[in-house]
Amino acid sequence: KYEKKWLIFGISSLVVFLIILGFGAFWQGTHPQSHGVTIDPENVEANEAFRPENLGITKVDDNKYIVNIVASAFNYDFGTDENGAPLKHIRIPKGATVLFQITTKDVVHGFNIAGTNVNMMVEPGYVSSIETVMDRTGEYTVVCNEYCGVGHHLMFATVEVY
Ligand code: CUA
Repeated sequence: KYEKKWLIFGISSLVVFLIILGFGAFWQGTHPQSHGVTIDPENVEANEAFRPENLGITKVDDNKYIVNIVASAFNYDFGTDENGAPLKHIRIPKGATVLFQITTKDVVHGFNIAGTNVNMMVEPGYVSSIETVMDRTGEYTVVCNEYCGVGHHLMFATVEVY
């Protein structure tokens, strides 16, 4: 009788352990883009990439670009143009390698360039990044695909590959 109790306890512990392990793997699997880079959502500018002057598209080498974005409810901040107006449209030459880096100041947002493989979940406290080659010309719509509040559908930008 005594032994049976311990056997049940042992098996239950094993089951709980496996569930935790499985959940951990699942959790990591759903966060593939973060690469463990953490950031303070209330002070994203502490990370050089997300200072106002570094937002938007920057050419870093021949045919290589970095695009830094700060998401917040309900906006994608790509920096401003020379007149101080918010940029909502970026242009990328065809065939360029582009590293997109994005973080959020508040809640979870999405960053999906519709019709491309750029599709990230953006979580407070993390930097999501993906490097891709933009090899088809066209105008692409950027959408938020994580429900983030009443203005969710207003989160919008365009990327043009020329
Ligand atoms: Cu941001 Cu939905």
